[in-house]
Amino acid sequence: MPTHAVARAPGKAILLGEHFVVHGASALAVALDIGVEAKAERAESNTISSVSGKNVTSAKIEDAEGFLAPVAFSLRQFLKDHSLNGVAIKITSEIPESAGLGSSAASSVSAISAVSNLFGIELSKKKLYHYSMLAEKMVHGKPSGIDAFVSINGGLVYVRRKTRKVLPCRPFKLLVSYSGMQRNTGLMVSKVASFKEREPKSFRNLMRAVNALVPDVIAGLQKGELPILAAAMNFNHEALKIVGASNETLDEMVRYARKVGFAGSKMTGAGGGGCIIALPKQDNEEEFEKFKAIYPHSFLCNVPGEGVKCWLV
Ligand code: PMV
Repeated sequence: MPTHAVARAPGKAILLGEHFVVHGASALAVALDIGVEAKAERAESNTISSVSGKNVTSAKIEDAEGFLAPVAFSLRQFLKDHSLNGVAIKITSEIPESAGLGSSAASSVSAISAVSNLFGIELSKKKLYHYSMLAEKMVHGKPSGIDAFVSINGGLVYVRRKTRKVLPCRPFKLLVSYSGMQRNTGLMVSKVASFKEREPKSFRNLMRAVNALVPDVIAGLQKGELPILAAAMNFNHEALKIVGASNETLDEMVRYARKVGFAGSKMTGAGGGGCIIALPKQDNEEEFEKFKAIYPHSFLCNVPGEGVKCWLV
């Protein structure tokens, strides 16, 4: 008889359109092959713990604080709605925290999936999205929901206003590299919004220009033709720089990625810290090794990754 339920949910990277998506343009994101694993087992009380290397942080679900607070909040609501009690959840993440790679959404998606599976509750994707978004709203006021949607569904995801869909996409490799500086999404969204207020015309033109690239990038990804994505990433980085989302560290990482041979590179997510992504020219790892030698928090991911998976052990 199984004693544990385990769920694994992926992180995400935004390929194109961050910030502009907040103002009505489209964005494309992919699920990564790095993610969060949650293990749930029956216990006397409700507890949550997070394992990161040798560090373990534990708390009662009722009074979890800090980075455990959002996922604990989703779990509390889920347990309450289903009149459940007595579960211990252990979360192990491969995703750097507060780096714009969707670690908080992947934590809630995996934790809620594992708990519902442990208690034999069939949870629709829509319900799972609802519970995961409770945590996301706690992290920053008005989340677009990209992270939770990608973590649940996997694949290449198109987002515009209320539309979210998974699109066909041939597999490709993507460098994801963490600057080591945590980013603050709310702060960066306000910074970009104040650029829009100061320079409405420039903002509109940049937003339209980035948005106009999206259909060709989608067509390219469907056929496995990547140069259009590389060019769009380079252009998108310049636009994000102008609206104030990048910083010197990210710009330097983006430049260095191109210097060692990546075809395209850009910051990803809210910026002001967090990560960059880069697209290799061909399927060899030479440029990755060169890049990693200078920026060690780098992963060469196979994308698009799969959405959340759950099993009993
Ligand atoms: O939180 P991040 O780093 O994944 O950035 C979110 C992307 C934004 O477009 C800046 C905000 C949003 O909610 O879409």
